[in-house]
Amino acid sequence: MVGGKLKVAVLLSGSGRTLDNFHREIETGRLNAEIVAVAASSSRAMGAEKAGAYGYPVFVSDERNHRELSRQINEFVLPYQPDVIVLAGFMKLYFMPEGFDGYVLNIHPALIPAFCGKGFYGMKVHRAVVESGVKVTGCTVHFVSPVYDEGPIFLQKCVPVFSGDSPEDVAARVFELECHLYPKALNLLAEGRVKLSGGKVWIEER
Ligand code: GAR
Repeated sequence: MVGGKLKVAVLLSGSGRTLDNFHREIETGRLNAEIVAVAASSSRAMGAEKAGAYGYPVFVSDERNHRELSRQINEFVLPYQPDVIVLAGFMKLYFMPEGFDGYVLNIHPALIPAFCGKGFYGMKVHRAVVESGVKVTGCTVHFVSPVYDEGPIFLQKCVPVFSGDSPEDVAARVFELECHLYPKALNLLAEGRVKLSGGKVWIEER
């Protein structure tokens, strides 16, 4: 799959910290990618402003119907010919364009299949983690399917949950991890080391 410098379209709904991280990683040469377009699912998304300030082409829509929103986003991003479409804090159900199965990635702030699915996003995930008393959590990069937080798992990494942690403590620990794991996933794709087969992701070890 893919191989070479990745052309990435970024979809977001919120603060755009993940976009900031990609931008930084690209600038410093740690991520072999180029952001070709950014689409935001809300005119209140700070990430859209950030994208404009970085000089990326930006599309914003407040469309509430997920299918129509996806159609509009796809119409905007496809002319930029992205290799991959990356969900970066995108809180709506995304319907990928035809032919992009295996080329759309999401990051979820927990260890799928735990604490995921409809309604589990952002701080809600970390609140549920603390409430449950689990001792580890983490983040998951996965390929997107038509169901929330499903689709083949690409990379996962965990962090401890300590007694007395607040959801904010856990969120900060997990996000730090995300900042390494998401670029790592994209670099693996850029290196052509990723294969999807039998609903599973196979990574060529080197
Ligand atoms: C990240 O923690 C990401 O895992 C989460 O949103 C945050 C990024 O948003 N995504 C989800 O919860 C998706 N289910 P930001 O870049 O706007 O801060």
